Amino acid sequence: MSADLATGRQKLAWARAHMPVHNALRERLSKERPLAGECIAVCSHIEAKTGVLLETLARAGASVVFTGSEPGSSQDDVVAALNEQDGITGYAERGISEERLAELHSQALVHAPTMILDDAAELTARMVNERPDLLSGVKGVCEQTTTGVQRIQAMLGDGALSFPAYAVNHTPMKHEFDNIHGTGESALTNLLLTTNLLLAGKQVVVAGYGDCGVGVAHKARALGAQVTITEIEPRAALRAHMNGFAVLPMLEAAAIGDFFITVTGNRDVIRREHIERMQDGAILANAGHFNVEINSADLADLAVARRQARPGIEAFELADGRQINLVCEGRLVNLAAPTAMGHPAEVMDQTFAMQLMAALHLFTNHSSLKPGVHPVPDDVDRQVAEIKLETLGIQTDQLTTEQQRFLDSWRASDLLDPD
Ligand code: NAI
Repeated sequence: MSADLATGRQKLAWARAHMPVHNALRERLSKERPLAGECIAVCSHIEAKTGVLLETLARAGASVVFTGSEPGSSQDDVVAALNEQDGITGYAERGISEERLAELHSQALVHAPTMILDDAAELTARMVNERPDLLSGVKGVCEQTTTGVQRIQAMLGDGALSFPAYAVNHTPMKHEFDNIHGTGESALTNLLLTTNLLLAGKQVVVAGYGDCGVGVAHKARALGAQVTITEIEPRAALRAHMNGFAVLPMLEAAAIGDFFITVTGNRDVIRREHIERMQDGAILANAGHFNVEINSADLADLAVARRQARPGIEAFELADGRQINLVCEGRLVNLAAPTAMGHPAEVMDQTFAMQLMAALHLFTNHSSLKPGVHPVPDDVDRQVAEIKLETLGIQTDQLTTEQQRFLDSWRASDLLDPD
């Protein structure tokens, strides 16, 4: 057995052991096999937790095809350990070009998937653009991230969407845990591992105070950093202010930051005029989906020299001698850094349970859903929360009949005690 295959199997076994919601669902679904006859394509960061989702889908009867959603984030050992399994076929490689990623997506589409579980709408957009012949066979898409839901909405606006899509990202069980705690912990963990520097006492600038930015900012503060937020949205800026963070335009924040972390889902958040003001030694990292949040072309243009400073860090020397450091080419720091393994297993257990349960619901209900972006029904979200609580051994109170009646009432006579 190759070393790759052995480490891939180990990583999968470790992930399985820490994904109890999947274990519970797998046991049930392998008996019922509700997805028998379906071809489900999963486009995501192909590492061990994603592998566990693929295994559960295969046990549920689906023929599973996988591909990477980003050039730097898949792990070759896990890909090998998945490709040896019955019912799972995949096309993913680490550290590839955008062109190679496109080729791998095309190979996955040859399987003519009937459903796609997507990340950032990468495979969905590819299919709509390049394989319109497949669209009539597609029952729907489940989308797991913020940027992907925005892209599918844009497809709908353009008249390019011919099937229903579930906005899995928007479910509480996904974004209140994955985006906040998952991105918060894994972006900082991998930034610190890659730089081997201390966060305590440093000036950290977080661009974007949405779910991911909230997670990164609060956890950086908990580690002792002085955190400044930049925003474009007035309520998000106010929320950051009232949570005790400094809020500044990037032009001012640029001059004070030791670390910069972008998590906006937007482009050019750090660009030429910001880089020009930065301190010597500033470290730039991105945790938003695309590697366009930090304008690396501007950085390259301003540099008189560039060199590899450490694995995963490129140093750009400006004309006056300042050195600005870019972490993993501005790609997702928690997934593309040399030591990166993505979010913690427990968080991905929830995210992928939501993808799985949304897919099962979509499979049963697709014919009654119009093309468009739909919320995942709340009871699906609630079911996953209940399974998760059960695996944790946590119990909650139950509503009494009187409490339920009270909550359902509007007449004062029903709301107040008769005495
Ligand atoms: P969100 O929509 O909740 O928050 C984004 C925030 O950025 C908003 O408050 C928005 O006003 C702000 N923003 C937009 N343009 C800005 C600019 N030019 N300057 C400053 N702020 C700006 O989105 P969420 O869920 O926080 O996701 C952000 C990005 O992270 C998306 O690309 C998403 O796909 C990605 N993501 C990454 C993960 C990871 O593993 N690294 C996990 C989950 C999401």
